[in-house]
Amino acid sequence: MSYLSTIDFLEDKSFVDKYRYTMRTGELDLSWMDAKTEKVACEPANPRRGLTFRDLDVGTYGFTEMPELIRDNRSFAPRGSEIPQGCPDLQAEVNRKSEVWAYNIEGYYEEAMTRQWNATLDVPWADLAKHELPEEIGKAYSQLLTFLTEVEMIATDVPAKWLGRLNADFFEVKNFIATQAMDEARHAEVFRKRALTTGWGLMRASWANEHNLKFLRDADSFAETSLTLHLQAEGMVLTLFRFSEYISPTEVDKKLFRLVMQDEARHVGYGMQHLRWVLDHFPEKREVIHRHLDEAENFVFGGGYATEVLEPFIILSGKGMKKENIQEGLRITQQFNLKQIEEYFERLDKCGMPERRERSKLYRMTEMAKEAMAAMAS
Ligand SMILES: [Fe+2]
Ligand SMILES: [Fe+2]
Repeated sequence: MSYLSTIDFLEDKSFVDKYRYTMRTGELDLSWMDAKTEKVACEPANPRRGLTFRDLDVGTYGFTEMPELIRDNRSFAPRGSEIPQGCPDLQAEVNRKSEVWAYNIEGYYEEAMTRQWNATLDVPWADLAKHELPEEIGKAYSQLLTFLTEVEMIATDVPAKWLGRLNADFFEVKNFIATQAMDEARHAEVFRKRALTTGWGLMRASWANEHNLKFLRDADSFAETSLTLHLQAEGMVLTLFRFSEYISPTEVDKKLFRLVMQDEARHVGYGMQHLRWVLDHFPEKREVIHRHLDEAENFVFGGGYATEVLEPFIILSGKGMKKENIQEGLRITQQFNLKQIEEYFERLDKCGMPERRERSKLYRMTEMAKEAMAAMAS
């Protein structure tokens, strides 16, 4: 039996009669007490750590025995519950474990919950009064913060877009994705707040970056999204944050970047553990992953070359706009660009894709750039 609305439900005479009978006589139906589910009493493996999702990994409630393709549950029925006829079909688009699962996914969620921070209170904003930035540094930093705010806004939208499209049985992944959306919202908040405290406010949005970011949003599948967002883009951003901490103008900014980095490392960690899990369990997907990476490397690594990002980096890392500052800024920024790409390939090595170097145009171009730089230096 299915109902279109609560009103339809109440127009069902047999239901209404049953309800009235129960309310009048106190004779309860109680058939739900015979739900055909496993009777369990989970306990924390480590009482100091508390009751974790891993402690609930038992039988039909757990994830170890979950099939690759979820056929039985198309509704919000919690995994392990009895699913009566009549539950709605939510038409989840992602029903295969191989599209979403990661080693330690339940641990990433628990970590996200214990390491939440507050952009209003945990950054010592009042200390900024001690630091007045010279005009060129202030403008360059505000421009970088404008770019980072743009990045974090799309990073909030992308996991949020996929949240409702994942089958409800993947709740560990869904919960993690929900924490990611919250983390990214906080990052957009903290960068916006910092931009509006510099004395310059926000600077210019970047059409080039926005096209790259749009590519992330428009990926066709969650598996593709995870490769481009978690592994590539956020990996690149993680290197960028480490570098930004190094070149940022005050101790307040260094603290801000350290807070953001701890979240970003977790997002990248999920992307890497997802890729490792897929390659271990579905080695036949390796080729399609290479094709996704071929396409995504075109876009994601274009972002760092937009004028609105490149030039602030040069000015901030060279600490000014005099000729010698710019020369030093160019040197450091080139090193940073190479580091971003090296770390990307190192992450792929760790995921079990060392052959990516041979397949990648990006890798070949980077090697050529390194050779050219070495020749110029000698
Ligand atoms: Fe972020
Ligand atoms: Fe992130």
